[in-house]
Amino acid sequence: CGIVGYIGTKNTQNVLIEGLKKLEYRGYDSAGIAVFTPEGLQITKSIGRLANLEAKLETAPLQGSAGIGHTRWATHGKPSDENSHPHTDNSLKFSVVHNGIVENYLELKDELISQGCVFTSETDTEVISHLVAREYDGDIVKAVQKAITYMRGAFALGVLTEYEPDKLVAVRQASPLIIGLGEGENFIGSDIPAILEYTRNVYILNDGEMAVLTQDSVELMTIEGNFISREMIRVDWDAVTAEKGGFDHFMLKEIYEQPKAYRETMLGRISADHKQVLLPDLNMTEEQIKNIKNIQIIACGTAYHAGLVGRSMIEHLARIPVETDVASEYRYRSPIVNSDTLVIVVSQSGETADTLAALREAQANGAHVLAITNVVGSSIARDANDVLATLAGPEIAVASTKAYTSQLIAFALFSLYLAQVRGTQTEETVAGIIAAMQSLPEQVEKMLDQAETIKDYAEQISSHKNLFFIGRGVDYAVAQEGSLKLKEISYIHSEAYAAGELKHGTLALIEDGIPVIALATQEDVLEKTVSNIKEVKARGADVMVITHEEHVANLLKSVDQAYAIPKTLPILTPALSVVPLQLLAYYASLALGLDVDKPRNLAKSVTVE
Ligand code: G6P
Repeated sequence: CGIVGYIGTKNTQNVLIEGLKKLEYRGYDSAGIAVFTPEGLQITKSIGRLANLEAKLETAPLQGSAGIGHTRWATHGKPSDENSHPHTDNSLKFSVVHNGIVENYLELKDELISQGCVFTSETDTEVISHLVAREYDGDIVKAVQKAITYMRGAFALGVLTEYEPDKLVAVRQASPLIIGLGEGENFIGSDIPAILEYTRNVYILNDGEMAVLTQDSVELMTIEGNFISREMIRVDWDAVTAEKGGFDHFMLKEIYEQPKAYRETMLGRISADHKQVLLPDLNMTEEQIKNIKNIQIIACGTAYHAGLVGRSMIEHLARIPVETDVASEYRYRSPIVNSDTLVIVVSQSGETADTLAALREAQANGAHVLAITNVVGSSIARDANDVLATLAGPEIAVASTKAYTSQLIAFALFSLYLAQVRGTQTEETVAGIIAAMQSLPEQVEKMLDQAETIKDYAEQISSHKNLFFIGRGVDYAVAQEGSLKLKEISYIHSEAYAAGELKHGTLALIEDGIPVIALATQEDVLEKTVSNIKEVKARGADVMVITHEEHVANLLKSVDQAYAIPKTLPILTPALSVVPLQLLAYYASLALGLDVDKPRNLAKSVTVE
């Protein structure tokens, strides 16, 4: 989602709309603005693209001296006029825009309803406006501070009240927010592009900080109310760089957003004692979960590769038989599917025609369909019986990165949930996996700190016409994703092979100097993978291995290069081992001077069968 806010003498509506246009890439299933007008605080919002909101404002413009705006990417509650921001309270005197998630919103909502609040949306955000209104006692800053003490989760907020039209309050708690400084005017934004047209002078808020803006002043303080000072930063990015958050390409930006995407996808889905997975939004009853006889995972492209890892996770943790299919094949093989089958469709966009058709085929045969998708308002999300949202945020680059890894997290959560309900794993095992999952974001951050180490190797392989990826188990699944990433954006031909299957044919293609990327992270088959590595090495291949640090020294006896990934549980390694492969594809594409974000012949969302 995107936030923008303004206080000053310009035409507020125009400033907000221009800001939102710059943020449209962050979410576009609905948008809205709230403005102080001479008639009081007025809100206009609309489902769909920003153009819909603009059309409404054209007939009934909002004139005033301060306002907040939002462009939404649905998380809690489908895209609709009601669920769009800004939200308000029952007195209509307060208005809030929000990015992030209020984890305990259901509890808060119950409490507020029992106190007489009437809710008009399904969002977690509306809770905030009612809370601020409840706590208001003549001082909006104090009311916001008080409201925050009840809220758990991640949020960036912009708050206005009609009672104090000279103030705009902004809060940052684990969701980015910046303050733009002007002359006789000030701004807030979730991202720099929102305000770049008006000012280059900004304060960046840290977690747990807030700001009170008037036309002529900005006061910074902690959410406890202690005043702080901050150095002003001058942004020298151009508008295009700003949209990419300072990165050269959306793909690189999205690779770097993975730790955040992991955290957000887990947020609110793990119990406070870290021992259990909670999926409160699931419609499926425990009874239904216990009765599942088999699972089919259906998807296309990268999402299919996530499904391959998902199969291993579910089979390993919940011991339910799982089949995987690419969606375009599923329908035409007259699949054996009925009401005992849980069908999981995986789709970043939620619009892929093949996947949607497979979903309908499965439903027509009585299956319950769970969609793992990144777009809550998408066709697939709407048609599915259940939705498990990945909270990766909008993905722009055609080559999927953060959506894939968030799908892995969603699968891990769902597998653990199945295991809990069906009692296939002990509490300790579940808690151990949760702990390992919670370490993943930091582990990815560590790898990204050394992203450049993969650059030389990428340049090396960029001159080759063919190469191979090999691995066993989930390493094979990741090999397939690594190979697809490279093909998509570097146009280098590569094949991913199950390491043990190589000798049954493909080995004939190995010749002197051909690069082979071997994934060797799975302890139980490590020796076997090493034998396969030796097979290709003996035929002249140039081998790069991806493994855990502890095996590097030993493996370097048989390979040419090694890349160490941090240690995690075998079932979770894909969430780490894919990162160097994403970077490899990125840097290879860069070395070849290709269009990283928009590769030839490909589309981000394929809506034809
Ligand atoms: C297209 C994209 C791929 C993506 C696939 C499935 O082919 O180029 O990157 O993996 O569609 O998309 P979905 O949105 O269903 O995950």
